[in-house]
Amino acid sequence: MKTLLKGGTVVSGSKTAAADVLMEDGKILAVEQKIDEADAKIIDVSGRLLFPGFIDAHTHFDLHVAGTVTADDFKSGTKAALAGGTTMIIDFATQYQGESLHQALNNWHKKADGNASCDYGFHLAISDWNHSVNEELDTIISEGVTSFKLYMTYDEMYMADKKIYQILKRLKEAGGIAGVHCENKGIIEALVEEEKAKGNYSVNAHKKSRPAAVEAEAAGRLLKIAQVADCPVIIVHLSSEAGYKEILYARERGQEVYVETCPQYLIFNDDVYDLPGFEGSKYVISPTIKKASDRKRLWELLKADQIQTVSTDHCSFTLAQKAAGSKDFTKIPNGMPGVEARPALMYSFGVKKYGLTVEQMCRLLSENPAKLYGVYPEKGVIAPGSDADIVVWNPESRWTMSVDNQVAHVDYCPFEGITVEGKAELVFLKGRLAAENGKVLVEKTGSYVARNKHMGLAQWN
Ligand code: URP
Ligand code: ZN
Ligand code: ZN
Repeated sequence: MKTLLKGGTVVSGSKTAAADVLMEDGKILAVEQKIDEADAKIIDVSGRLLFPGFIDAHTHFDLHVAGTVTADDFKSGTKAALAGGTTMIIDFATQYQGESLHQALNNWHKKADGNASCDYGFHLAISDWNHSVNEELDTIISEGVTSFKLYMTYDEMYMADKKIYQILKRLKEAGGIAGVHCENKGIIEALVEEEKAKGNYSVNAHKKSRPAAVEAEAAGRLLKIAQVADCPVIIVHLSSEAGYKEILYARERGQEVYVETCPQYLIFNDDVYDLPGFEGSKYVISPTIKKASDRKRLWELLKADQIQTVSTDHCSFTLAQKAAGSKDFTKIPNGMPGVEARPALMYSFGVKKYGLTVEQMCRLLSENPAKLYGVYPEKGVIAPGSDADIVVWNPESRWTMSVDNQVAHVDYCPFEGITVEGKAELVFLKGRLAAENGKVLVEKTGSYVARNKHMGLAQWN
């Protein structure tokens, strides 16, 4: 049966236009100013914006880390995604020490396959780079894993400069791209020791041990390594103006650098770490949330199209899990939820408050991740032949974020009490109505998406 969305405004990365959308068998058949189709189910979407399904290119579901496992697995995490309007996530399949990349990938398929309610792909987080991993790379890429994460901090994941250089060079040759977590491990360790020596074991020591220079130093070093390797690179979860300055220098040298930031860096200031009691543990993430001036600068950069994607880094832990660090901040598992909230936060704060256009929102949340991560034009656009992943957005809806109305499997909402404008009213996943007003209607119909090799954003223009 065909479905016809009638009377809405279709948003793309470059324009908005009044258009009807016809879909059948999971695909978009036609997008035209006026479609009359007698044998279609007609849904009146007048007054609504139609976005291509949002893509969250940075989630950690069912991740074993810090002696525990994230509160959201693929079952709950992808339901939360869908409820908020995200029809595809790209999660980090993580290679633990001693594993091959294929072992890591198989592990993640076991976690996700049959459990996901939205479509999904995998990046591979490389933590053990050696000769046989190098040999596996071409097959991994041919299996649709075309992006990789490297960590410049964290004991179990840390990648030294020499290996970063070797991996970047190899990825360029093989058609992959790396997203890099930029923080200087040594400075963090020294500052942690200093805080502990002062007797400061509280949440507030987390921010003191990770000032903006920690991110900036690592970003600058990474970008010089990428310059020598002559290789494009993505800086994930950018949190600071100082980090951005390093990106600007690299771009001025002619380097191809893509940048991701996350809602938490756009909405909160570092005073969250001074909240009473253990409240600040909800915001213990790395990189840390920075100062108000950093937050404002990130908005300016989004407006000026200097940041390409906004993803969430959804990595949720319950309050009981966070409590592991109640006496020692270094034991608080790092991460917070956000996969469900991102679209409404970006519409409400981005479009309504800070003056992003809806086209920019479309680029940041859907079109650019689709292009950068090799799923465009199947995803990231409402056009004939594309997957019928469509978010019918009600721009008039006003609602308040709360643990009481969230789908994610975590017992707090970091955005508790924030009233937002705009809501994913209807969410179509491959043509099927899968979520409505924050409630998931159809579960576990998400499929694995093998991704194409990386192509720079400029190639699409
Ligand atoms: O604190 C965070 N961001 N945890 C998730 C892992 C990462 O670094 O992306
Ligand atoms: Zn990271
Ligand atoms: Zn992450």
